[in-house]
Amino acid sequence: MWLKAWHLIGMVTWFAGLFYLPRLFVYHAMSDDQASIDRFKVMERKLYNGITTPSAVITVGLGIWMLVDYAWAAFGSHLWLHIKLGLIVLLIAYHVYCGKLLNDFKHDRNTHSHVWYRWFNEMPVVLLIAIILLAVIKPV
Ligand code: HEM
Repeated sequence: MWLKAWHLIGMVTWFAGLFYLPRLFVYHAMSDDQASIDRFKVMERKLYNGITTPSAVITVGLGIWMLVDYAWAAFGSHLWLHIKLGLIVLLIAYHVYCGKLLNDFKHDRNTHSHVWYRWFNEMPVVLLIAIILLAVIKPV
């Protein structure tokens, strides 16, 4: 239960970062004055390196710990767990891609519009809903 509690705390802070970072990209892509651009670079770097990535490591680490400890024996044959793990691969790919976008902004070579980032920002919402429904309802 302690592992699960910290797994969920890590998940909440991970998603806080995954929701807020692309939002910063939206405003960064709309900015044209140097003071704002410099401020967004600092905010993005601190959010990604200070909160989002450590939270991802905690969530994934504790999730794997629970799998090894008891959950694989209990649920290893359940389809929901396999689908959940597949969606987490997509979530990690999204996280890594956010790091690439952050690096592009850092070197002033962003190529996407603020509208593109608004759509990009919706992807973790879909993944969050799907993963929570699978983990809690265990429908299959
Ligand atoms: C590699 C990453 C992950 C692994 C290996 C993993 C694995 C696990 C395991 C083994 C459990 C315990 C299942 C049980 O006792 O019922 C669990 C619980 C849970 N996980 Fe994950 N998880 C991962 C990432 C995530 C993410 C990203 C989310 C949310 C988006 C999430 C949401 C949940 C929830 C809500 C529960 C509680 C389910 C319940 O007790 O009803 N997990 N996870």
